[in-house]
Amino acid sequence: MDQLSVDHLLGIQQLTPQDIQLIHTTADQFKEVINRPIKKVPSLRDITIANLFFENSTRTKLSFELAEKRLSADVVNFSAAQSSVKKGETLIDTVNNILAMKVDIVVMRHPNPGAGVFLSKHINARIVNAGDGAHEHPTQALLDSYSIKERLGSLEGKKVVIVGDILHSRVALSNIYCLQKLGAQVMVCGPATLIPRHIKDLGVLVELDLKKALQWCDVANMLRVQNERMDISYFPSVREYVQQYGVTRKLLDSLDKEIVIMHPGPINRGVEITSEVADSSQAIILNQVENGVAIRMAVLYLIASKIQHHD
Ligand code: CP
Repeated sequence: MDQLSVDHLLGIQQLTPQDIQLIHTTADQFKEVINRPIKKVPSLRDITIANLFFENSTRTKLSFELAEKRLSADVVNFSAAQSSVKKGETLIDTVNNILAMKVDIVVMRHPNPGAGVFLSKHINARIVNAGDGAHEHPTQALLDSYSIKERLGSLEGKKVVIVGDILHSRVALSNIYCLQKLGAQVMVCGPATLIPRHIKDLGVLVELDLKKALQWCDVANMLRVQNERMDISYFPSVREYVQQYGVTRKLLDSLDKEIVIMHPGPINRGVEITSEVADSSQAIILNQVENGVAIRMAVLYLIASKIQHHD
């Protein structure tokens, strides 16, 4: 059986293009499974997975949980808000206590960049990063690239613009790594204050004018403005942001081609995109959510198969 080159999924940066292709082809098989009347397979019957969410989530948390249940894993859920973290327990103590209950894989979302890497060096379980601060969100990039491939046939030579709050976005960084490894060209677009100063070093194009960016691209991935990660104001007002960086039907109709619209969620309707655009046939936002379950099944299956292979 083909194997991943890594033991943990900490970020896209550590994956090879072959790893990403393997996750995508494995997800093809699981997508077929989850569209059957009986959506469950016994692949992870002897595996226990802990979902540790130290930060809010709707899509990622539910998607991992469904993926785990569809693979027949035993699942425990932990959310920081109701835990002893509030009483001052450290991350390693919290996780080691959970692992003492014989957990094989930890799926973790954490507000601190590098939390997954740190944990992987200190505990005896496989780690899957479900988003670490403004650093990486690998399964989001895997499902985004999978969804583009599904709509456009391949990623090779395709032009993808990531629009909005690039500075605070783990989705942007993971997408940049993932899309480039699959042969796509990547541009970022947004207010200058929300574009990291050295982003060009990653080999991406930078465009401050949204219309020019949309004219260039095949796909626009619209990011949410992450107010919760902002300590200062990065643009004068939401109204001004919408005028310059909001995608409307009128703007899309002014282009000489039909582009694909994506959004990782949660959407601020009327800010980064209007409802009319979000709900149109050009948008693949719900396909992204559907594909997220198959991608996470593939990731967990491939990580678990390495446990059985090694131990
Ligand atoms: N796309 C994403 O990570 O959404 P959640 O924050 O709801 O998990």
